[in-house]
Amino acid sequence: MSKVTVIGAGNVGATCANVLAHKDIVKEVVLIDIVGNLAKGKALDSWQQAPIDYYSTSLRGSDDYKETAGSDIVVITAGVPRKPGMSRDDLISTNARIVKSVTENIMKHSSNPIIIVVSNPLDVMTLACWRSSGLPSEQVFGMAGILDTARYRAFLATALDVSPKDIQALLMGGHGDTMVPLPRYTTVAGIPVTELIDEETLNQIVDRTRSGGGELVQLMGTSAWYAPGAAAAQMVEAILKDENRVFPVCAKLDGQYGLSDIFLGVPVKLGKNGIEQIIEVKLNQEEMNLLHESATAVKSVIDVYNNMNL
Ligand code: APR
Repeated sequence: MSKVTVIGAGNVGATCANVLAHKDIVKEVVLIDIVGNLAKGKALDSWQQAPIDYYSTSLRGSDDYKETAGSDIVVITAGVPRKPGMSRDDLISTNARIVKSVTENIMKHSSNPIIIVVSNPLDVMTLACWRSSGLPSEQVFGMAGILDTARYRAFLATALDVSPKDIQALLMGGHGDTMVPLPRYTTVAGIPVTELIDEETLNQIVDRTRSGGGELVQLMGTSAWYAPGAAAAQMVEAILKDENRVFPVCAKLDGQYGLSDIFLGVPVKLGKNGIEQIIEVKLNQEEMNLLHESATAVKSVIDVYNNMNL
């Protein structure tokens, strides 16, 4: 009997709502957009897909936050996407204001939701949402790691000609060029990937993963939506089913990995309370250095955000 709200009925939000409806695990999905008819239209279209694809999840769209009342989980995808030539960090001045006002509106109508942030620059928008929400940090986190890991797994699946299902991987750090792929923790059905692929090809895949979002922006003129929307829906599923799935998630660190006062991608257990546990993987010195470099890059964007004095 759960209710999920998705804010932003654009490419990522509408995809997330639609994927979620197909999972048939939620009673109701509410889609909210500042352009009310867009949310109404996409929700209605998705609802009309229900008799074809056999799901019972009802979908409703609106521009009125009253419709979000009593949400168990809220996914925030509102904001502008990247255009070719832009980095995610270039979005901050617009998206920080949007994420703040969206969060305030959510909190007026739902007393204790779990919030998943998707808007970019992700690590800083998650921090912004957490600050505006007043919620415990276990209940506010961001979607990036599942997407970055999925890109890495997909590239590996192509290179090795195996099913992407069998590739397990871990990726940490910020959602940007400084993300930290960990080949040491990448396996193909339990076989270390380093036994199956040469170092040069693996390094090329790591580099392609780091700029995986940018590659799609170049191809499409805007940023991706199928994998991002599905990734956010997978997080919702883990929470609603209390699965304790282990995913890389943008979470608030309080001393883990020697880092504090920052939201950064780390492996966590996701269950009914949101982040049930942050997992501290044993990193070698080189990996730890890369993670701290990534944190430094995120902190410079936090400084920009703080200087906005919102
Ligand atoms: N309240 C609600 N919706 C808003 C608001 C707001 N204050 N401001 C903008 N929106 C809506 C827009 O009207 C639009 O429909 O957010 C939607 C964003 O959709 P797209 O432009 O299609 O962008 P999308 O590709 O979905 O990306 C959204 O997710 O992956 C990130 O970097 C991406 O920050 C971007 C966000």
